[in-house]
Amino acid sequence: MGESMVGMKRSHRCTEVTAANIGQEVTVMGWVQKSRNKGGIIFVDLRDRSGILQLIFEESDCGEESFAKAEKLRSEFVIAVKGVVEARSGGVNENLATGAIEVRARQLRILSESETPPFPIEENSRTKEELRLKYRYLDLRRPDIQRNMMTRSRIAILTRQFLAEEGFLEIETPTLIGSTPEGARDYLVPSRVHPGSFYALPQSPQLFKQLLMCSGYDRYFQLARCYRDEDLRADRQPEFTQIDMELSFADVEDVLDVNERLLQRLFKEILNIDIPLPIQRMTWKEAMDRFGSDKPDMRFGMELKNVSQVVRDCEFAVFRDALDNGGSVRGINAEGQGGMPRKKIDALVELARGFGAKGLAYAAIQEDGTVKSSFSKFMKEEEMTALVAAMGAKAGDLLLFAADKDKVVYDVLGNLRLELARQQNLLKKDDFRFLWVTEFPLLEYSEEQGRFMAMHHPFTMPMEEDWPMIDTDPGAVRAKAYDIVLNGTELGGGSVRIHQADIQEKMLEVLGFTAEQAQEQFGFLLKAFQYGVPPHAGLAYGLDRVAMLMVGADSIRDVIAFPKVKDASCLMTEAPTPVDHKQLEELSIEIVKPEGQEGASFSS
Ligand code: AMO
Ligand code: AMP
Repeated sequence: MGESMVGMKRSHRCTEVTAANIGQEVTVMGWVQKSRNKGGIIFVDLRDRSGILQLIFEESDCGEESFAKAEKLRSEFVIAVKGVVEARSGGVNENLATGAIEVRARQLRILSESETPPFPIEENSRTKEELRLKYRYLDLRRPDIQRNMMTRSRIAILTRQFLAEEGFLEIETPTLIGSTPEGARDYLVPSRVHPGSFYALPQSPQLFKQLLMCSGYDRYFQLARCYRDEDLRADRQPEFTQIDMELSFADVEDVLDVNERLLQRLFKEILNIDIPLPIQRMTWKEAMDRFGSDKPDMRFGMELKNVSQVVRDCEFAVFRDALDNGGSVRGINAEGQGGMPRKKIDALVELARGFGAKGLAYAAIQEDGTVKSSFSKFMKEEEMTALVAAMGAKAGDLLLFAADKDKVVYDVLGNLRLELARQQNLLKKDDFRFLWVTEFPLLEYSEEQGRFMAMHHPFTMPMEEDWPMIDTDPGAVRAKAYDIVLNGTELGGGSVRIHQADIQEKMLEVLGFTAEQAQEQFGFLLKAFQYGVPPHAGLAYGLDRVAMLMVGADSIRDVIAFPKVKDASCLMTEAPTPVDHKQLEELSIEIVKPEGQEGASFSS
């Protein structure tokens, strides 16, 4: 049972009470963080989203009734206290914003009692994430998560302000839309009125924002909820939020310019960090060659070196076979790691295998200049010397080589590079290195599908000078597509769009759509292009990822109020859940349980 707050009005949040209020009466409300009864005198730490304020209860000040209530207080009780601000009697607590003062209570009301929470509400909780997510409403009371949510809110508000200043309109687009099978798997929503038909939840507002450009809205943005049924990772959720934008009569430069200034504003206002503009740019090709990744972490070097030419004539079959099969041999130099114990090197080899390598060749340069290597027996001494020189290695360095198709080599060395940086503690969270990666390939060959797929999406504009190769060498055509990368994370991506119906139709053809399929799925867009379409371009950030990096979290779950876990379920609401037979009947849906799961629930 809780008391009413009628007649009491909160005058301050906890940390809004300061030394300037000494002598004044204030009314504060919040949760009991901690209560200590020292016999005749009770100290209570009161918590709200602003922080902690110390309250002090003595019967001579607050009266018998309030004092009796104060004796009952336990963690997480919700209370209202009227009292007078005083300089802190027991000396200043430097750790608290309100450490120089306390409030001497005159009146206490217990607005709500609390059971003992399943875990303490404290900063840097060591409680397992599963338990915290089950009781997310309690977890969200913790000061570090509250700070994350406040930062996220500031990002959203500042973004709106900035884009409004830049002439963008905030326009909502629908979330019950038609399914378009490009990119990730769709989340489907059955239609009751049209049995057997489904809406899809949008993977992004892509088509609608392009239509808004056709409609003349010029500059659009939206903080848009997007849904993708894909495997979850630390930086992926099934539903997430994009800062989505589109600009008419705009080319690459226009999009990059406005976004650099947006990022600069956010980092200055929120973290007081100056991002020097312009942000560094690198083509996709250069990023892959130098870092083995299309989202290179620029906080450290350890760049890849292509040594194919150097080892071209050696006897080592692993290198030769890779080169003979059109692949390459590349290496990285882990400087100063020459003394790495065998066990740790073996772990790196395993890691490389995990990324598709058949093996990993290594060479440790000894202090006396000799080389200890897994493949020296296949190399002449001068060949090894040339290789070490090409890698710029000195005594004490460790060289790691991968030989395979380029794609595998990039993947293996790009990931080894990151792992080595982690081991050497080179990844400082407060070092923010931005990078634009530009000129992505337009298409990517999918072995699985046996056809080319759009690397970004089917509406991305090819580079004019490459377009003539679309029939002869489609894989070599570059796109006017760009990603914004921060510390090895893809924060956002976008492109200039195709605004010519003929190029768009050709593109869909290359992607394997028949004219009918294209019509069925994108007919409205192709039609819209026949009524006057401005050249346009855009970009979308993952807002969750921006927030994650700004607060220094390891997962986007830490900046999402109610996130889902790896199997896409919500531990608190237990969604997804089986539904009533009647609901399914209305939707003309029958559940066929996967074999071996009869009796199991549909959601499992
Ligand atoms: P893209 O698919 O690259 O582009 O998505 C843009 C950004 O959205 C974020 N993101 C995610 N964040 C959390 N969880 C996910 N599952 C997830 N998937 C993507 C990433 C990514 O960079 N319509 C285009 C944009 C455009 O061309 O304008 C699009 O959606 O940070
Ligand atoms: P082997 O001839 O199998 O004894 O291999 C000699 C060395 O080459 C070992 O260190 C292997 O791990 C390494 N190796 C094997 N395949 C590759 C590869 N594709 N790229 C780089 N090194 C490899």
